[in-house]
Amino acid sequence: MNEQTWQAVDDWFCDRLIGPDDALDGALDGALAASAKAGLRAINVAPNQGKFLHLLARIQGARRILEIGALGGYSAIWLGRALPDDGAMVSLEFSPENAAVARANIARAGLDAKVTVMTGLALESLDALIAQDVPPFDFVFIDADKSNNPNYLERVLKLSRPGTVIVADNVVREGRVADPAHHEDEVVGLRRYFDMLGHDKRLETTAVQTVGSKGWDGFAITVVGG
Ligand SMILES: C[S@@+](CC[C@H](N)C(=O)[O-])C[C@H]1O[C@@H](n2cnc3c(N)ncnc32)[C@H](O)[C@@H]1O
Repeated sequence: MNEQTWQAVDDWFCDRLIGPDDALDGALDGALAASAKAGLRAINVAPNQGKFLHLLARIQGARRILEIGALGGYSAIWLGRALPDDGAMVSLEFSPENAAVARANIARAGLDAKVTVMTGLALESLDALIAQDVPPFDFVFIDADKSNNPNYLERVLKLSRPGTVIVADNVVREGRVADPAHHEDEVVGLRRYFDMLGHDKRLETTAVQTVGSKGWDGFAITVVGG
């Protein structure tokens, strides 16, 4: 088994379960271009992962969604499509260039009335949302600079209600999260994130490893309790 096999299985799933889709395919191109420009591998979620998030949000009946890390709006389109007619989503993005691409892709998907992209450092945007006393979010997707996940969690909890679902992406990082030889900021941030999740009695969390077109990684999924 190797990455080629994982990719082939993802392609096989996507061929059967996710057809061609102008808005999503266009956003994927935008995300790929943004990643390439930043010298990164494609850092948007894979199509079957985007649909996984979409289904989670629908299963949960989310009416208000918060995303941290928009890139080109790919996951935002999947999540925005899970919203009911009167639903709303806010996606936070540091890079003005990425935010512009995300807004254009979201508009092309017909979701601009529901999905707002806020430009700026996510910590500052989260503090602004807290200061504005916005209604709690039902579903939160954390997918930006992983070193800040503990800080994001602290703020997201102030924007949550009992029952809010919090999903964090890229929590495995090819096993580095559990390998004491690694001390990169992102890995250290994720370890602290898991410590916070494990110690906070209000939170129920599990984490699952994934393999596929994005390599070996995983999601942490949390439900906020009362
Ligand atoms: C992994 S990509 C998001 C991918 C997107 N969720 C998707 O799947 O289509 C991470 C994004 O977070 C943004 N980002 C990184 N650090 C940030 C910060 N401190 N505040 C806001 N956005 C940040 C990056 O510019 C990048 O666009």
